[in-house]
Formats: sequence, structure tokens, C-alpha cells
Amino acid sequence: MPPAVFLTRRIPEQARALLDAAADVRAWDREEPPVPRDVLYDAVAEAEGLYCLLTDAVDAELLAAAPRLRAVSTMAVGYDNIDVAACTRRGIPVCNTPGVLTEATADLAFALLMAAARRVPEAERYLREGRWRTWSPMLLAGQDVHGRTIGIVGAGRIGQAVGARARGFGMEVLYTARSPKPDFEAACQARRCASLDELLAAADFVTLHAPLTPETRHMIGGRELARMKPTAVLVNTARGPLVDEAALQRALAEERIWAAGLDVFEREPATPEHPLLRLPNVVTLPHIGSATVATRTAMAVLAAENLVAALQGRRPPACVNPEVLAG
Ligand code: DGY
Repeated sequence: MPPAVFLTRRIPEQARALLDAAADVRAWDREEPPVPRDVLYDAVAEAEGLYCLLTDAVDAELLAAAPRLRAVSTMAVGYDNIDVAACTRRGIPVCNTPGVLTEATADLAFALLMAAARRVPEAERYLREGRWRTWSPMLLAGQDVHGRTIGIVGAGRIGQAVGARARGFGMEVLYTARSPKPDFEAACQARRCASLDELLAAADFVTLHAPLTPETRHMIGGRELARMKPTAVLVNTARGPLVDEAALQRALAEERIWAAGLDVFEREPATPEHPLLRLPNVVTLPHIGSATVATRTAMAVLAAENLVAALQGRRPPACVNPEVLAG
């Protein structure tokens, strides 16, 4: 009997075919809305494998409703939506999709950095709204990017890929990380700061690439924003709750920092009424850091390969709690 799998969203055909070939798949086969909680609870009662997205909370309550569950695979690198400790206690491998989204996400972080520094969306609105009367010396003047200093908070794969792009722009690269990254330092002449405070004070651009954990929640709040330069730009393509949005909104409204480029929010989806979306010095996107056709397809395929391997008792290509795997 093929294992029973529940899939919480429509995924690219190539990935779906991998699941169908190895499992008895039941799916919430839609682009939107996300699977309702009652449907998910009902489905996990029988499921041995769960293929989920970052919008699905795989918490203790859900796990309790899933007595036969043997593997969880998320189509994302971040897994803060999953209670990994509870899965580990049950011997359930939790799989994610590192690596395949690194370059696309770094591209988008840099796009936000550039757009916020040079006021690109604001300038486009100005033109489209018919407000352009004449060329003017300081019209929509932004901040230089080339030759400035970037501060990378969390120099994992994506942070380092952003650093490589920054070097192409002749930027000085600073970073914070739990451990030194000698290869990154050599490749990008990057310098590890002794503290986040040191990075915040020195950087013209602060870009966040840390995972969301209890320790990193609100790592950027009023105190940290006060340490940034008034000309600095904050970029967040990692997870919204890394930033205290109320404090950021105040800092931007009072022009205590220059601008922010945000792909993620404390509560998603953000709505047009969100106070940050009303500020001219904020460039916002709807959590599309990894959203290229090739990258999202690669993520979907890797998540399927992970799940199939785990259910077949093989080592999945990417598992965040490998201690539960045999051998
Ligand atoms: C992730 O993978 O964690 C992103 O947020 C979506 O690409």
C-alpha cells in the first residue's frame, strides 16, 4: 500500500508527479485560499506524510490529530511554522528546501535595497500620477548604493549571496553571525562585527537573513533602529517578526532612518490598511523573495523528494532534525 500523503496546496506538476508516483495523495489542490484548519485536521488523521507550506502551522495540536504521521516536508527553507521539537519527540523527520532558493532570494533582497535607496516605486507613482512638471536638481533624490557599506545580519547561504552582489557594487561588507565565515570573508572581503550594535551603527544598508526563533523575534526594535544612521535603509526578506513593526513604523514616519524594503510582515498577508504600507519611504512586496518560476519549481520538487525519501525510509536530501533518521 503506498503511504497516505496530504498536500496542503497546488504545486507545480513536476513535483506533484513525484508524489503521485510514490504515494496515495490527497490534496487541497488550490492556489488560494490556504487549506482551512478543519480540512487539514480531518486530512492528517489518516496521513503518513504531510507536504505543507509556510502558511500552515504544524503545531502540537495538529500533531496530536495526526497519529500516523511519519514525515513532514515544507516547501520553504524557513520552518518556524513547524514545531520541530514536537516532531523530533515523535521521531518525525522535518524537511525543508535550503540551497535552491538562495540566488533568487538574494536577487530580490538586492532589488528591494536598490528600490528603497533610489525611491523607485515612489518615483514611478509620481510619474504615473501626472505630477512630473520638470527636471529639478533634487527631485526624488535618493541614497547612493555603490561604494556604501552593507550590514548583513545572518551570514548563511542567502546572506552570503547578498554579500557577493554587494561586492559587485563596490560595497564594504559587514556581517554578524554566530560563528565566523572565513570563506565568505575571503570571497567578499567581509568583516564580522563584534556585535549587532556595531553593525547597525556602521552600515548604510542593513539586510536581515536570520531565521525566526524565540531569540531573533524583534531583534530589530526601537533601540536597534535608534542606532542606525538617519540615511540608512533596512531590508527584510527573511521573516516579518524579526522586526518590531510598530517601532519601525515610528522610525520611518519620523524619518529617523531613510527607508525600508520589506518582503515579509509580522502578520501575513498584510493588507493595504497596514500602517507601513501608507508610508512613502517603504517599498513592500508580498513575500515573493524566492518567487521565480525556476526557483519555486525547484523548491516544490525538492520538498517532494524529501517527503518521498523520508516515507520510503531513505535519507531525505534536506532534513532539519537528522537525529531522528536511522543510521
Ligand atoms: C522560505 O523558503 O522560507 C521563504 O520565505 C519562501 O521562499
